Amino acid sequence: MYGHQAIRNMSPAYPQFFRAAEGALITDVDGNEYVDLMCSWGPIVLGHRDPVVTQAVREQMEKGDCLDGPGPVLVDLAEALVDAIDDADWILFGKNGTDATTACLTIARAHTSRAVVLVARGVYHGAAPWCSPVPAGTLPSDRAAMGYFEYNDQADFDRAVEAAGSDLAGVMLTPFRHVEGEDQELVDVEFARHVRRRCDELDALLILDDVRCGFRFAHGGSWEPIGVSSDLSAWSKAIANGYPLAAVTGRESLRDAASAVFLTGSFWMNSTPMAAALATIRRLDAIDGVSLMQRAGARLRAGVLTQAADSGLTIAYTGPDVMPYMTFAGDVHHERMTRFAEAALASGVYLHPKHNWFMSCAMDDAVIDRALRATEQAFAAVRRHFGPR
Ligand SMILES: Cc1ncc(COP(=O)(O)O)c(C=O)c1O
Repeated sequence: MYGHQAIRNMSPAYPQFFRAAEGALITDVDGNEYVDLMCSWGPIVLGHRDPVVTQAVREQMEKGDCLDGPGPVLVDLAEALVDAIDDADWILFGKNGTDATTACLTIARAHTSRAVVLVARGVYHGAAPWCSPVPAGTLPSDRAAMGYFEYNDQADFDRAVEAAGSDLAGVMLTPFRHVEGEDQELVDVEFARHVRRRCDELDALLILDDVRCGFRFAHGGSWEPIGVSSDLSAWSKAIANGYPLAAVTGRESLRDAASAVFLTGSFWMNSTPMAAALATIRRLDAIDGVSLMQRAGARLRAGVLTQAADSGLTIAYTGPDVMPYMTFAGDVHHERMTRFAEAALASGVYLHPKHNWFMSCAMDDAVIDRALRATEQAFAAVRRHFGPR
């Protein structure tokens, strides 16, 4: 097993194979059912097997999926996304988030004829050698043109800009700081404005990596609510409710660079995931999915914070309600959080001890209350095991 499912990364209590899912629930191969607070690590935004998306997929499958070129659905989807996302004048599609972030990097370099791209230290942008969090098999030269700064730290950002000198192609940022195993940090709006200003002064591009947050944080670009625009954006996860699709969106001025670079993949033009994405985006809009997820997330947050206080345990519950992250005070090696996650699992909630959780539109009050009954057991288990703190 590899990635998140690698044995070294997961408690043995965790199932690795699942046989079914419906709405907010997931069932492992042994028949255990869980409230799914991971949403397949982000993609499931409407709920598992959303009937509208499933119907759109069936209809597209009847027509064809992997053809010699894209179906008309590519145009319909591109128009829907360009309508929904303020900073998008054009769009191109790939499969995974790493395709999209890597394409953004390449397009930025092609457009500016410069090399250096700045990213925040520790923030995940994918599994390619230029951004992999694990150095095994990568070369220092893979990162030779990367620069690093602390998220939300203007002075450190300016230092990295200074170091890049006249070779700065762009800055890639996630909408907020999410680093595995660390408390999350919302973006400081002044910091975001500062980055935008500096990019404008230096003719460098601001790239928003919206792979994790996109269409969960806001319906459209995740920085639209704070009024900070991007030049390029990377998307994946939630845009197709679990079907494999990624996208890059960009400004008109970058259309030529996007056309000039070589971007392709054997399955990049498949129509079924595009049909799923079109149905997903329309449905999210129709039901105001972002508000539904915010409501579910606020209920979960309130419930978890009350349970922690009632148990006499100190926790941090950070990040936006739709993508929360929980830690116990002083739990440097995640032992308490691992115990919490194992007990939650045994009580019927699938969540991760070191990764943010995700809300979906299928999480109504009854689902959240069901999840909270499990987290109550999990707090009791931590208290029993480690005592009050
Ligand atoms: C912010 C961000 N960027 C990029 C990626 C890479 O996406 P993928 O795993 O689909 O390649 C992820 C995946 O979690 C992500 O969270």
